[in-house]
Amino acid sequence: MALRKIITVGNPTLNKTCRPVTNFDERLATLIDDMKETLIQANGVGLAAPQVSVLRRVVVVDIGDEIIELVNPRILEQSGEQDGLEGCLSVPGQYGQVKRPNYVKLEAQDRNGDWYEYEGEELIARCFCHELEHLDGHLYTEKAYHMLTEEEYEALMHADEEEAEEQA
Ligand code: NI
Repeated sequence: MALRKIITVGNPTLNKTCRPVTNFDERLATLIDDMKETLIQANGVGLAAPQVSVLRRVVVVDIGDEIIELVNPRILEQSGEQDGLEGCLSVPGQYGQVKRPNYVKLEAQDRNGDWYEYEGEELIARCFCHELEHLDGHLYTEKAYHMLTEEEYEALMHADEEEAEEQA
């Protein structure tokens, strides 16, 4: 396994549409393992292949007790609404407010080509939507109805620090 470099906004690769995965081979397995390691190292919730410069429909998401691999994912159902803060490893130092469905059910293949269904609420549903949009070349900043100002961002970071101190 190896860490991959996460590209950031301004890099045109992030705006391209990814092709479906058709070869379930060793190369795909290596990509998925590398993406999982990169996600953990970056302390993120989700990562899509174009963020590591690979234009294939592959996503990894940390659902809490494991990191799931989503190859050729498709949303089957979505319902409800949530409104909250969102960030992206490819848009460092920024957060924006985005409305998303509160529940999402999707199907995806694993590295062997087997299909599975997954469902998630709140943060997981938000992450599913966010990561799948990466596969079509879209960033959450296009959907955000408000990007945090520098003051709002500083206040948020400061709140996190206070919380960390309380927990220490
Ligand atoms: Ni992202």
